[in-house]
Amino acid sequence: MRVADFASGSGSNFEAIAKSDELKNLGLEIEILVCDQPKAHVLKRAKKYHIPVFVNQLADYPDRSTYEQAIIDKLKPLKIEYILLAGYMKVVTPTLLAAYPNHIINIHPSLLPKFSGLEAIERAYQSGDEVTGVTIHYIDEGVDTGPVIKQCKVVRLGNDTEASLEARIHQTEHQMYRQVILDLLNKNNEVAK
Ligand code: GRF
Repeated sequence: MRVADFASGSGSNFEAIAKSDELKNLGLEIEILVCDQPKAHVLKRAKKYHIPVFVNQLADYPDRSTYEQAIIDKLKPLKIEYILLAGYMKVVTPTLLAAYPNHIINIHPSLLPKFSGLEAIERAYQSGDEVTGVTIHYIDEGVDTGPVIKQCKVVRLGNDTEASLEARIHQTEHQMYRQVILDLLNKNNEVAK
């Protein structure tokens, strides 16, 4: 299964996927990392795993549609089947959605629909909610909306700081993203039989 990862920042989710031998052995091929931030740490992680990168900045285009069209032009020859968003900080527009309908997956650090948008972990922590979590979903035209694939709860402990809660959320994200891709690979391999 040929995928493109999209990321803008640290890239811990990207690395959780890239380093998994289990996923590789089941046929996961990360063909490219698309990154909109030339200084993002995720670019160093991609180098470590010898994954090609496409650094593409919105500021270099007249509008979002042409920005995304440049991405599509890069992905099409690579025969990308799924796009995995992992901390990609741009809203995806109908241009990219139409090129990969129902094949773009996103991870969000809350139990959607709660705390959609930016700073989800901080807002969940400040809300005092006893339970927060992680959502992996197909994207649609909204922000952090679209059909849910998997949700997992993360319980807030009595002595949690925002940082300790965040660390557990990230751990949960890494496990969940690997599991969701594993399920997808198994499904695809089953269909191919
Ligand atoms: C994650 O919390 C993800 O859910 C959100 O952005 C963060 C990216 O973290 N969409 P990383 O760059 O994968 O470390």
